[in-house]
Amino acid sequence: MAILGVKDLPVEGKRVFLRVDFNVPLTPARGVADDSRIRAAIPTIQHLVDRGARLIVASHLGRPKGAPDPAFSLEPVGARLADILGNEVLLTDEPVGDGARKVVADLRDGQIALLENLRFHPGEEANDEPFARALASYADVYVNDAFGAAHRAHASTVGMVRYVADKGAGFLMDKEIRFLSKLLGEVDRPYLAVIGGAKVSDKLGVLDSLSTRTDKILIGGAMANTFLKARGASLGKSKIEEDKLALARSFLKKAEERGVQVLLPRDFVVATSMDAATGRTCALGGVDADEMALDIGPETARGFADEIARARTVFWNGPMGVFERPAFAAGTFAVARALADNERAVTVVGGGDSVAAVEQAGVADKITHLSTGGGASLEFIEGKTLPGIAALETA
Ligand code: 3PG
Repeated sequence: MAILGVKDLPVEGKRVFLRVDFNVPLTPARGVADDSRIRAAIPTIQHLVDRGARLIVASHLGRPKGAPDPAFSLEPVGARLADILGNEVLLTDEPVGDGARKVVADLRDGQIALLENLRFHPGEEANDEPFARALASYADVYVNDAFGAAHRAHASTVGMVRYVADKGAGFLMDKEIRFLSKLLGEVDRPYLAVIGGAKVSDKLGVLDSLSTRTDKILIGGAMANTFLKARGASLGKSKIEEDKLALARSFLKKAEERGVQVLLPRDFVVATSMDAATGRTCALGGVDADEMALDIGPETARGFADEIARARTVFWNGPMGVFERPAFAAGTFAVARALADNERAVTVVGGGDSVAAVEQAGVADKITHLSTGGGASLEFIEGKTLPGIAALETA
């Protein structure tokens, strides 16, 4: 099975539907808080514009309930895209309908339309036939650059694809597949995974799969609490998924049987509330009844950094603590810096929070690959077939 690249597609003077993932965080004033996902799609957009395509860009934003909702309009995203490109971007009033059809029909070579949020229509997430056909009717060529949404089998990522004559992957999609695939094949060892974030439940699949391929798994963030509790630790009022203790225990057992070492925090930064201005460092076993673990402690951070320094391949997903708060950010930044300092290793970071931490630490250019996908990168690393990628394959 092969996937054509955007360079292989006949796009000159054609109407090209470009699915991107512009699901970006917004500020309270509805500005774009982080435009990395927009910038990541620029090479494909510029390439298509330069070749005289009539470009129809489409994305979802947030999780509106299948109906128009001004809070989720792509208007600020369109404005930022126009700024970056120095080009006009025509935003349609809805994803499909008379208005959108007219904007698309009037496009001239090299012009760009941005469809309003695809999730303003219930057919997008339901992947329904009429909506998929309506989207497909706009285009001669389909290009998918939305790696971040490739794990969703929606109308714009799967349903419409079979109705468009030519299809292929954009430069970002291609790059994501190339780098993430490296972690599924033969890798230089030691191969380490650093997994954090709030919930064990979100990561059990990927942890299970990583325990068949990595040498060591380092776990931080609130999810580490559940594993520690499963091993009998007492952690005050730290966040724990009580209903996942049995699964956590069975994962730890499986990892041990597979000869994969799982490293959990040995100390923490704790406080009585997430809003506390400062925290207290304490060893595992020293968390008071009214305290919660909000970051890995300095000893754990040093230990994790030493492990990362010895690795030759590292995959990182999920923060080590509540890193949005300066008092609980040290562990996450220590991991970001350790990855950056290991120049001999292939380092791959996925997930919005870890990527943001790498950027805030000012070390983004020292990481081999920063994935624009959160859930998509996890499912890819888990070895799952992503429907948005499978739909691009040509027989
Ligand atoms: C993401 O941000 O992970 C993607 O844009 C997918 O968004 P979703 O989880 O709302 O489908």
